Amino acid sequence: MTTAPSTDIALSLRDITVRFGGVCALDQVTIEVPKGKISGLIGPNGAGKTTLLGVASGLQQVDSGQILLEGQDLTGARPQRFARARMARTFQQPQLVPELDVRQHVLLGLRLSRGDGPAGRAGELEVADRLLAELGLAEVSRRGPMELPLGLRRLVEVAQCIASDPRILLLDEPSAGLNRAETQAFAAIVSRLAADRGIAVLLVEHDMDLVLEISEQLFVLDFGELIAAGPTAEVTSDRRVREAYLGVLKEPA
Ligand SMILES: Nc1ncnc2c1ncn2[C@@H]1O[C@H](COP(=O)(O)OP(=O)(O)OP(=O)(O)O)[C@@H](O)[C@H]1O
Ligand SMILES: [Mg+2]
Repeated sequence: MTTAPSTDIALSLRDITVRFGGVCALDQVTIEVPKGKISGLIGPNGAGKTTLLGVASGLQQVDSGQILLEGQDLTGARPQRFARARMARTFQQPQLVPELDVRQHVLLGLRLSRGDGPAGRAGELEVADRLLAELGLAEVSRRGPMELPLGLRRLVEVAQCIASDPRILLLDEPSAGLNRAETQAFAAIVSRLAADRGIAVLLVEHDMDLVLEISEQLFVLDFGELIAAGPTAEVTSDRRVREAYLGVLKEPA
């Protein structure tokens, strides 16, 4: 039996299993990420969060399961095809090119969506500069990424992703190493991007304040198993989730 494709779902991962030798990093995990909203993916160290982002971006092969991006079956496809299907991601350690300045990173992202020919290049500097201004990076646009503090490097990676005009953005622990103010600023930018551009965001995050504040729904992984999924308020009052995060989550109001 096949399920009719649901139009409000950006990304479906169905019955995903990934094993590394004896370790079952993901055990028949199914999640559906809605369009235009932020979904949080939480769980303790080693729960399988990064592995799941790898599956969703084509970098990690699955032992079984199915991957649908806006209804298109990409199971077994190469990462380039995921990118063409307008999937973008950031990494736990920002993946930037030391030789390129900030604006050149954004131009690379733009060329991914527009093509590298003359038509793609027309007006690209203006578009890049507008995006850099929107993300608060205008003043550092001609600097190299390695000269920048980590918080700005993470934003450069996001800017490059946004320039590629994604339908889905995967963020792997974007607040790690940021202070409170930087985290707040980052949260505001991601919320705005989801709302204004209709981008589906899947956010892996250890900072519970951040993830609970901006996620409309949550997925909770524990040792490769999905133990809870649903609207944020419901998931945070779930007993198993509270036990897995004892002392981390506040009492429900
Ligand atoms: N390439 C790999 N080879 C072997 N084992 C791996 C590999 N990648 C991940 N694992 C194992 O799979 C499990 C899930 O790892 P994963 O990195 O997805 O967890 P995570 O939830 O992202 O953790 P963290 O919060 O520490 O980033 C862990 O037991 C990890 O050791
Ligand atoms: Mg991880």
